[in-house]
Amino acid sequence: TSAQIGVTGLAVMGRNLARNFARNGYSVAVHNRTVSRTRALVEEFGHEGAFVAAETAKDFVAALERPRRLVVMVKAGEPTDAVIEEFAPLLEPGDMIIDGGNAHFADTRRRERELREHGIHFVGTGISGGEEGALHGPSIMPGGSVESYGSLGPMLEKISAKAADGAPCVTHVGPDGAGHFVKMVHNGIEYADMQLIGEAYQLLRDVAGYSPAQIADIFRTWNTGRLDSYLIEITAEVLSHVDAGGKPFVDVVVDQAEQKGTGRWTVQIALDLGVPVSGIAEAVFARSLSGHAALREASRGLAGPKPTPLAESEAAAFADRVEQALYASKIVSYTQGFHEIAAGSEEYGWDIDLGEVASIWRGGCIIRAAFLDRIRTAYDARSDLPSLLSDETFAREIAAAQDDWREVLVAATRQGVPTPGFAAALAYYDALRAERLPAALTQGQRDFFGAHTYRRVDREGAFHTLWGGDRSEVPA
Ligand code: 6PG
Repeated sequence: TSAQIGVTGLAVMGRNLARNFARNGYSVAVHNRTVSRTRALVEEFGHEGAFVAAETAKDFVAALERPRRLVVMVKAGEPTDAVIEEFAPLLEPGDMIIDGGNAHFADTRRRERELREHGIHFVGTGISGGEEGALHGPSIMPGGSVESYGSLGPMLEKISAKAADGAPCVTHVGPDGAGHFVKMVHNGIEYADMQLIGEAYQLLRDVAGYSPAQIADIFRTWNTGRLDSYLIEITAEVLSHVDAGGKPFVDVVVDQAEQKGTGRWTVQIALDLGVPVSGIAEAVFARSLSGHAALREASRGLAGPKPTPLAESEAAAFADRVEQALYASKIVSYTQGFHEIAAGSEEYGWDIDLGEVASIWRGGCIIRAAFLDRIRTAYDARSDLPSLLSDETFAREIAAAQDDWREVLVAATRQGVPTPGFAAALAYYDALRAERLPAALTQGQRDFFGAHTYRRVDREGAFHTLWGGDRSEVPA
């Protein structure tokens, strides 16, 4: 028997992905360092399809048809390198190693380069959708060579999620690390979405005075409109949940958010590329601030307003405003994320189709949303769109939302409810549309203390003012 695809690393993601392939009619070789896991999979789910259990690396490789397709589902980082080291010597030119973990795209570029020298295709692949997605259809973001996609694409298309129009949520994102880069930004946007939802929740609680159960209903309503998305849907689920003692679940969970690193990478790389992803950055910082327990404890006595809930008659109108603020801020964080993808694509020569990225995020992944179909439409209409905000439809929606957006921030500021995501998004919007920015003053200061020179609005060239002398201007 020769299997069409192999999966090594049978923790929950790997196991579910292997089952997904098998349920779609592919024969799947399965392998795990601890053999009991391999046996357990076949025992429990063997009836779902054609599995070939391999106990050793050699058997695993031998079980695969050529060119071999070997999916690695281990923890990102050193474990991935260890698996490559183990399997690469057993492979032949033309074979493919597909890394489905949350790898850093720079690692993927290195691994791709090294394996290419041996004729092996390394396909760094972003996979989103958690356990359920892996089993029932994830959004898949493969990088690597065009050739590898030719062999792998049809299988990935089969097991992927499908968008509402039936399109598979997978595309060849671009060469080498492009897939993992796009997955990284997906996660950055995921952080921003979650932060914005968190701010909306806090405002509805503290300013509007609603209970978690009432807020769950509000999110349910929002989920039938333009905010329709997986994250809004599960927010309603989490907010309406009560623990065994009858308390709102959200009130008994320690308010310190953790992170595994992909959101942080999104911001680190954006800094390197010079792309302002302020909304995503605020989301990452908000998580780290929440975790500084001692610092927060020491700061509890600091002066500031204590939120006083609105009169019941005003609460519903305020909730509508929060919806506007959330939607406008969401447009901004996607604008920033897509800017980062465009910049990464430019820097590394990936030629990423932004409309395709929006398209494959429409289903399966954590940020899946009706909204993404509209982003796809925007980029499909104009692939050279300078930014999502330049799209007429989004610009019009923000124009309509902005009064409420500003009002919500006024209320938040006055009542002392932290809303870094909403605020960063609005600041970005106002900065982009500003006629003049204080950057001119920054340039003056730099020229004053360091003779760093400046350009003028009325003449070509670089100039320096003799600040310490007669303050005349000289060409630099
Ligand atoms: C996905 C998720 C997945 C994972 C995140 C969680 O797309 O399926 O993004 O990759 O759940 O990495 O990230 P944090 O642990 O950093 O919140």
